[in-house]
Formats: sequence, C-alpha cells, structure tokens
Amino acid sequence: MVITLKNISYITPSGIKLFKNVTLNIDATWKTGLMGPNGVGKSTLLNILIKRITPSSGHVSNNIKAGYFSNSVNSEINSSITVSRYIHNHVHDLSSFNKMWYAFKLKDQLKKQLLKSLSSGELTKLLLSILLSNHYDYYILDEPTVSLDTDGIDTLKDILNTKNGFLIASHDANFLSDITNHTMIVDNQQISLYKTNTLSAANTQRRVTESQDKQIQREKKSIELLKQKSTTLREWDKKSNSDNTKFIKRAKSIEKRIDKLTKEIPNIDKEIKNNQLNSSSTYYKATLTVENFSVGYNEYPLFNPISFSAKPGKIISLHGHNGIGKSSFLNFINHTASNQLNSIGKLHISTNAITLVSKTRTHRQSILKLAKNNYGTDFINGVHKLGIVRDKFNTPIINLSSGEQKKIDLLLSLLDKSALILWDEPSNYIDVRTIQMLIDFVKIQSKTIVVVDHNFDFLKHISDQIINLSAVTNAD
Ligand SMILES: Nc1ncnc2c1ncn2[C@@H]1O[C@H](COP(=O)(O)OP(=O)(O)OP(=O)(O)O)[C@@H](O)[C@H]1O
Ligand SMILES: [Mg+2]
Repeated sequence: MVITLKNISYITPSGIKLFKNVTLNIDATWKTGLMGPNGVGKSTLLNILIKRITPSSGHVSNNIKAGYFSNSVNSEINSSITVSRYIHNHVHDLSSFNKMWYAFKLKDQLKKQLLKSLSSGELTKLLLSILLSNHYDYYILDEPTVSLDTDGIDTLKDILNTKNGFLIASHDANFLSDITNHTMIVDNQQISLYKTNTLSAANTQRRVTESQDKQIQREKKSIELLKQKSTTLREWDKKSNSDNTKFIKRAKSIEKRIDKLTKEIPNIDKEIKNNQLNSSSTYYKATLTVENFSVGYNEYPLFNPISFSAKPGKIISLHGHNGIGKSSFLNFINHTASNQLNSIGKLHISTNAITLVSKTRTHRQSILKLAKNNYGTDFINGVHKLGIVRDKFNTPIINLSSGEQKKIDLLLSLLDKSALILWDEPSNYIDVRTIQMLIDFVKIQSKTIVVVDHNFDFLKHISDQIINLSAVTNAD
C-alpha cells in the first residue's frame, strides 16, 4: 500500500508558495519522520495526504485507512462533555484503549472531570490513546510529543513500536530517530526522503538548520536580484533608441516593488543592539515572591509547597510531570484560574502588569499591521530574527503555522508593557534554531519571567533557577 503524490504544487489562500511539483511515494509500511523549520508546510502536507486540503495542482492517491492526530483545538473539547462520555463516544476497542490509558499513567479519577479541565499533557495522552487504540492501517500524527512529559514520550515510543507504519511531523530529531526508518525533510518547496539509518539525529537536525539558513540567504538575495533587474532594464531602455517604453515601464514597476519591500520593512537587517529589545516596560520592575505555596482542586495540594523569589531580569523555571499543577499555578498568578482552585502559602507580586503566554492567541492582523499600529520596528526585526520570512509579513497571523504564531506571542510578551511574564510551555511547536534565538533574546531582557516547560535542556539554558515540582502523596 502506497500513498502517491504526483506533481503536487500548493499555494496558500494568502499567496504563500509551499510546494512546487512534488512527486513522492510513501509506503504505508514505512515508519517516517517529517521534519522542517516552522512554517515550511509540514502540517499542510499531512492535510494534503489525508485529503483535507486540495493541492493547487497535481494529484494525490490515497486509499489507505489512516488515523490522524493533531493538537489543534476541536470544538467538542471546549464543550461541557466529561472525559468518560468522550471515551465512550470515540473508543472502538476498550481493552486496547485501557492498556494505553494505564501505560500513560492516567488516573481513573480524571474520567469524572470535564474534558476541558484536563491539563494539556493529560488531554494529549487521552487523544493519542483513543487514536492509537482504534485500528487503522496507517497513522499520521502532527507533533504528538507537544505537551508530553518525558515518561509520556517514552510510552508513546513503546506504543508506536507496535505499529506497522506511520508518518509523524515533529521538531524532536532524537524522538524521531528512535522510532523511524525513514525521514522526510521539507526544504525550499521540495521534499527530500532519506533512510533514517543513513542519517543520525544530529545530521537530520543539521540539515533542517542549514535549510533555514539557505532560506534566509535566498531572501536577502531576492532584493539584490530585483535591483540588478531594474538596472539592466534601464540600460536596455537607453540602448533601444525607439519609442518603446516597455523596458522603462517594467523597471519602474520593479522599483516600486523594491520601494515597498524596503519601506514597509525598514532596517530589517539592523542588528538588535546587543540583542536588546526596546521593551516599553523598562521603567517597571516586578518581583514575585512565593513562600510554602501550592495549589489544588480538592483538600490536597497538587505539588509539595515551593518557595522562591523572582527578581527583575531573572528567570525562574518550573519543571514537573503532566498534571502536577504547573498551568494552574501560572493561572493563579495571572488571576485567570478556575474558581475551584484553592491555594496554600504566601504569594506576593509587586505588579499588576502581567502577561501570560499559554495557548496561542488569535491575531487577525498581519505582522506588518501589528508593527505599524502597535509595536514598531523592534517587533519586525524580532520576528525576522526568529525565522519568519518576509513573504509571511502580510498574512493575517491567525493563518500562520502553530510555531510561527507561538513565536509571535512570545516576542509580543517581551515587547509589551508587562513587567512579569508567565510562559506556559514556550518551546512547544518551535523549531530548534528558533529556540536558540529565543534563549539569546531572553538572556538580555529585563522583565521577570516564570517559565514552565517539558524541554529540560531549554530550561537549563535560560533559567536562573529551576524548581522541580513533586507530587503530594496522599493516603488514598
Ligand atoms: N476543575 C478541576 N477540577 C478537578 N481537577 C482539575 C480541574 N482543573 C484541572 N484539574 C486537574 O488538576 C491537575 C493540574 O492541572 P494543570 O493544567 O495545572 O497541570 P500541568 O502541570 O500544567 O500539566 P501539563 O504538563 O500536562 O500541562 C490535572 O490533573 C488536571 O486534570
Ligand atoms: Mg500545563
């Protein structure tokens, strides 16, 4: 059984070219990893394969019964449905499902909760257990490890090892190299296919980063090329002594384009001085002090009480397994917790200017509009430094990829008027190169930041202090 793409090209509704004449056969017995920088079209490709998106041209043939997983919100999840009802509605093979539920260490008491009250990791584990216990010939998974703790990733690997074939988009080269035998990399509107045993995780990662660097080079060159073209046209115009105005007309139209590109996006290559962002909050300073503090939804606190003091410019990180109460804690600080959440201990915050970045906010404006109306050139420069290319600048942000939207939200929090930033899983959806840039940005800024993330390596790089949350063991 094979999925075939024949001469596929795809241009998004906002005019961004993602694929050009791609021809590809994917064998359903392959275990394939799909990699590529944010915004190159990985999720779009998966949607083309399952025929949810029709390519602009070319032909897809897929007669395989494939199960599809993605983290994007579905309306049922936000409704008032309980976990047990949801399981009842969607599970085909209960015994196989239960095995996965316990393998993921999910507790039976969760079944009584509303689906929307599950933590992000619990929800992902539930959705993966449902999909992977239902029998399909092939599985197509879009970033399944997002939100999973380390144990969860290991369990997912065990489950995937029992499957015949799958295709998984992820930014985690190590995870993919452990479970796959083929690798596809999206680069410059093309897809390259490798046998995984010929390509180490480090090599795969290097290829992805190189393709990003090349993309930036190509982008830089494009204005140079336009300038050359207009010069040539003007020369031709001089040489042709006739009244023919076609050369000069074309030269003028190209110059207009150059003008637009360079005026709309001024100083794009200007170095952000010492990487310093012109945050408007330089005058505000925030300190967050927590003493013997914990939160919980019943008489028991979720994690053993913690104490710390976060000073301006410092970054405190919290690390702990899915469901331990990290997001609940951040929401408590942000005054957005459910009123069922109780707390013990002391918490003092010296500011009301708080920004929480968790699930992606939806911006209908484009990057250019947001820069013009609110955030200025630092925003444009920052966005570009974080790897978003110019041809995305006019698209409504809501139509960009999950990773691109996440980067924008993180950057906005660094630039807005807040003095205290709370980041709930900032590394989700973000490619490795951008994580590196983010580390650089964060080190030189002056706000107080509390971060929650499952990527321990990332936390080690950005944190002044890491607090490990441990579960309270109670009698029952
Ligand atoms: N209204 C509620 N009633 C009872 N339990 C709840 C409620 N809301 C959330 N919980 C539970 O509280 C626990 C903590 O949730 P929280 O979202 O804070 O976890 P988390 O540490 O952020 O996890 P993750 O790493 O998966 O994001 C979870 O087990 C969750 O199911
Ligand atoms: Mg959470």
